[in-house]
Amino acid sequence: MSSLVQLRSDRPGPAVTCASGAPLELVDRSARRVRYLRVSLTDRCNYRCTYCMPEQAPDYGPRAELLRLEEVEQVVAAFARGGVERVRLTGGEPTLRRGLVELVARLSQLPTRDGRLEVVMTTNGERLEGLAQPLAAAGLHAVTVSLDSLDPARFAAITRRGHLDRVLAGIEAARAAGFASVKLNTVAVRGFNDDELSAIAEYAWARDVVPRFIELMPMSGGELFVPGTLMPAAEVRAAIAQGLDGALRPVDGGTARGAGPATYHAVVGGRWAGRVLGTIGAMTENFCAGCNRLRISATGQLHGCLAHDDAGDLRAALRGAALRGEDGQPALDRVVRTVLGTKRDGHGFQPDGTGGPRKAMISIGG
Ligand code: GTP
Ligand code: 5AD
Ligand code: SF4
Repeated sequence: MSSLVQLRSDRPGPAVTCASGAPLELVDRSARRVRYLRVSLTDRCNYRCTYCMPEQAPDYGPRAELLRLEEVEQVVAAFARGGVERVRLTGGEPTLRRGLVELVARLSQLPTRDGRLEVVMTTNGERLEGLAQPLAAAGLHAVTVSLDSLDPARFAAITRRGHLDRVLAGIEAARAAGFASVKLNTVAVRGFNDDELSAIAEYAWARDVVPRFIELMPMSGGELFVPGTLMPAAEVRAAIAQGLDGALRPVDGGTARGAGPATYHAVVGGRWAGRVLGTIGAMTENFCAGCNRLRISATGQLHGCLAHDDAGDLRAALRGAALRGEDGQPALDRVVRTVLGTKRDGHGFQPDGTGGPRKAMISIGG
């Protein structure tokens, strides 16, 4: 047993074993297999979305605390060997990270167990107009752009410093760049954009973009969460159906999912018949049982769950091994194994804004 490490097996499903030297099997204590890694490249943002961060940005630590891009590559390569197939680059705002295009080029060449890593990114779109083409040429597979309103004044209000015209130009550039998909993320906020959800969906469909609507989650210890503004996914779908004067049906009986937590519905009849929208019902349609992902913060903390603060320190593992002149892989494996062994079964988000983590969305990128 000395060369085998066994995770706690008091849960259903197979115990996780790893023969020394072989890639770690990325299966958590609830038998959920990890195939999807979200990697935050920076905890800074050029926007200040009201539900994501306070007007006054926190004191950022020194840049040396960020994982260097070579370290990002080293960690992601290890996860790809372990069975991860897709990496989503997030932030803060990932387009603020210098060397992004080069990083994408390197990550998208990494081998997985049966092919090459799929690299995708979620961005606020502000800098996408100039970056879409170089990113596509570097191998970025798909892009998701956050867009909470089509009204310039509302957009400026919710982002505090965003420019709607730049984001819309970024979306056009992304369409022209030939990504496998362009998706929109709209956080549905009651009293803010609930009257334009179907217009946002129509804007997306007219451009062959996939709209997705997200329930507001109480991050940051609930500090930024305004009770009453949460709009349940079922209400979002009903509002959109009403706005279209039509109906929605679950795609594949409600089982059709992308790599992430969105469920998809299609329009029945009318001008947009067959067009699809996603809803991410983090609060009211719990999808934790199907969770297939881990998250790495910009400072190299490995988080098992968006909704909990516990994390393992990949950066310390890597840098400690480097200082000792050792191969970093065993140290990385130890951290990953601990996080898999303690990955939470689900979130504790409550509709009154309690039950979430202290960490801010900007520090983990969704
Ligand atoms: P794809 O399906 O690959 O497009 O990925 P995705 O939906 O994970 O990507 P995206 O970054 O666009 O995330 C959309 C929203 O889903 C964000 O608001 C995330 O915070 C949220 N989300 C993603 N994963 C989880 C999760 O594990 N738990 C919760 N509660 N929310 C998540
Ligand atoms: N709840 C839900 N979604 C959020 N996002 C940021 N903060 C929150 C929150 N508190 C969204 C962003 C982005 C995605 C990665 O997460 O709008 O589209
Ligand atoms: Fe920046 Fe995205 Fe947070 Fe908005 S939601 S402040 S764009 S990280």
